[in-house]
Amino acid sequence: MNRESRKAIGILDSGVGGLTVAKEVIRQLPREHILYFGDTKRCPYGPREPQEVIAFTKQIVDFLSRFPLKALVIACNTATAVALDIVKEELNIPVLGVVDPGARAAINMSRHGRIGVIGTQGTIKSAAYERALKSIHPGVSVYSHACPTLVPLAEGGFKDPLAARQIVRAALDPMKSKDLDSLILGCTHYPLLSNYIGEVMGSSVKLISSAEETARELSTILHHKGLLDREIGNLHIIRHRFFTSGNPRVFHEIAEDWLDHPLEVERVNLEQTLTRVTG
Ligand code: DGL
Repeated sequence: MNRESRKAIGILDSGVGGLTVAKEVIRQLPREHILYFGDTKRCPYGPREPQEVIAFTKQIVDFLSRFPLKALVIACNTATAVALDIVKEELNIPVLGVVDPGARAAINMSRHGRIGVIGTQGTIKSAAYERALKSIHPGVSVYSHACPTLVPLAEGGFKDPLAARQIVRAALDPMKSKDLDSLILGCTHYPLLSNYIGEVMGSSVKLISSAEETARELSTILHHKGLLDREIGNLHIIRHRFFTSGNPRVFHEIAEDWLDHPLEVERVNLEQTLTRVTG
């Protein structure tokens, strides 16, 4: 048995957004064991200064690194934009972000090279998507727009569909006139709202999430490094662990609904006090 391959994959985000990536990792790599951290208590990261986002990301990485990990996914665009290179330097395991995979997916899907990017203030200010897209295809036109109202909406579980629709419509209004063929959901929270976003943008605009491409890249890296878990066992006994710094009940509700699977959420104050909520 290869002991390295039995280690877990760490996934982190400022909150529930990274679950959109975790879901795809679980779908593409069902034998793998996931450790997820959502920093719900300090969410949103979007309006924060880069130095603060870097500090928070490092704290989470320190926490997750107490467990045996074989790879880490920064499933947060805001953190990827400012902290990916720093974390890569510090860990000696593969570390993936979500911006490059999202940009690759958009270039693959875009028919006329008119690509919109929506994200947090931090991600849009960093121009990380614009750089990633242009480095693959300098000829594409990129239209970027920050949507700060969408993360709180997703974190709240958007209980009122009418209000949710209005918030999404107002947030996307400036993108409607850009004649886009595709729109990058440049925040991992946004796929949770993709029904509303699709409704507002219309069927001619393809919605691009980095989740699928990030999971594919992870799978390729683990394969090349001989780190895919090949143990033949019952898939049902694989138990992922979900940690949040915030309210575990709210996180639990959203996570169980999105992943469509019973799970437990543990509260962590980053000094390691755990409170368990069983689903
Ligand atoms: N889900 C995150 C992202 O992809 C962060 C959202 C936030 O905390 O503002 O950017």
